[in-house]
Order: sequence, then C-alpha cells, then structure tokens
Amino acid sequence: MIQPVIGIIGGSGLYDIDGLEDKTWRRVETPWGDPSDELMFGRLAGIQCVFLPRHGRGHPTSPTHLNYRANIDALKRCGVTDVLSLSAVGSLKAELPPGHFVVVDQFIDRSFAREKTFFGDGIVAHVSMAHPVCNRLGDALHGAASGLSLPVTRGGTYLVMEGPQFSTKAESELYRSWGCSVIGMTNMPEAKLAREAELCYATVAMVTDFDCWHPDHDHVTVEAVVQVLLGNADKARGLVQAAVPELGKPRALCPCGCDRALDNAVITAPSM
Ligand code: ADE
Repeated sequence: MIQPVIGIIGGSGLYDIDGLEDKTWRRVETPWGDPSDELMFGRLAGIQCVFLPRHGRGHPTSPTHLNYRANIDALKRCGVTDVLSLSAVGSLKAELPPGHFVVVDQFIDRSFAREKTFFGDGIVAHVSMAHPVCNRLGDALHGAASGLSLPVTRGGTYLVMEGPQFSTKAESELYRSWGCSVIGMTNMPEAKLAREAELCYATVAMVTDFDCWHPDHDHVTVEAVVQVLLGNADKARGLVQAAVPELGKPRALCPCGCDRALDNAVITAPSM
C-alpha cells in the first residue's frame, strides 16, 4: 500500500493553507534551479501535506518566468504522490460565472516560452498526455466541493495562454469556438511535468472573470480578478481541508496509471 503525501500548488491569491499542524517553511534545492518559494510542510488530519505558492509569496514571479521544472521536482523529491493544483482562471462559458469552480479534465497548451520537459538531454521520453488529469483525484475534488455545496462543474477544457497580457477579443472568441471552458496562464507545462514525474495531478480552476468576450460584462482587469479571487481562495482552503482526509487514505497504485507514466515512455536505448 502507498501512504499518499498530498502536494498543493496554490495559484494567485492562495499563498498559504489553513489548519496545517507542525507547519514549517523549508527551502528545497533541485537540479533545475529554485522553486518559486520555500515549501510549507505540515499535516492535515494526520496526513502529510506539502504546499507551494506557485508564484511565490507576494506574487513576484510571472507565469512565463516560473521555474515549472523546479516546482514539480521539489514536490517529487519531498515525497509527494498526489498534486492538487488550485488556479485562478477566466471563464469562456456563460454557465461558468465568477466564483464557480471547474475540475477540468483536459488542457490545450498554447504556452510557448517555457521549459516543458525533464528529458531530451541524453534520455528521450514521450509520455502519454491523452488524459492529462488523474480521474481519481478529479473525482475526489469534485466530491469534496459538492459536499461543501460549492458551485462546481466536473470536466472542461483549460486553455493555457502564454500571457502576461490578457487575450484579445478575437483570441477569446477563438478559444470559445474550440469549446474551451476556462483560460489561464499556468497549468502547462505544470501538468506535463507532473506526468513525467509520475505524479497524480488534478486542477481546480477557480473562475474570477469572463475574460473579454461577454457582452454584459466588463473586460477582465487585475482589479476584478483580485476582488473575486480572495473569496475563491477562502473556498479553496475549505476544499483542501475536505479533500485531503479522503485522498490521504493508504491506497494501491493509481488506477489511472499516472504513477507509472514512464513505464513505456523512454525511447533512448539503455546504455551497454
Ligand atoms: N487568470 C484569471 N483570469 C484570466 C483570464 N481572463 N485570462 C488568463 N488568465 C486568467
């Protein structure tokens, strides 16, 4: 049996987690450089948790300049098995208003200025990203959110843009025509790297705005995003507290296979 260790990546507005016992912030070194900040270690309902504020406390690092490899590697080397990614997003659908949570199940990666793999320098691997989200984690997060009566939708596609500027209206309409549900700047390559690191990974996308396509709503601004995300962050803290006791139960290998993603992915011949 595996004793899960829960990693939590907090997005904009979420720089801390409530209720952790024996909480300590510690610096973690990785071969890829420094993660966004120190990591916070502690226990929630007796379950070991490791929290990382994605942009660093105080939000000094932009989506393009995040060291995604260091962030994922730091969680992995601290023993994390399951990663909950909490992320502020814009909505691309009328039925997903600000304050709504989406447990996404797909991504479209339109980011282009980021390091996206741990491999390629002597060892080449091609992991499957057909199902980028761990269904087991997604179900647990959706169940916990529903149990708290949070407005939540299970399933949806998260469009990852490079930023840092928000989208043009034409881009926003294009992504809507692709059927995307939400738009954000951070979950790729995070999800790809989590898969390469054989970590189970799921995202709760927390809607802060209607981007710039909605005829009845103002175009997204940082001010509007920040106003909504403070309320979302409180709900997210409650969600983490509800989900961790379930996710922390000892378990067998993940039925989705996330924890064995490299079994058939390395193409480089073993050295003689
Ligand atoms: N994060 C929050 N709202 C966003 C938006 N409209 N576009 C990109 N990232 C966002």
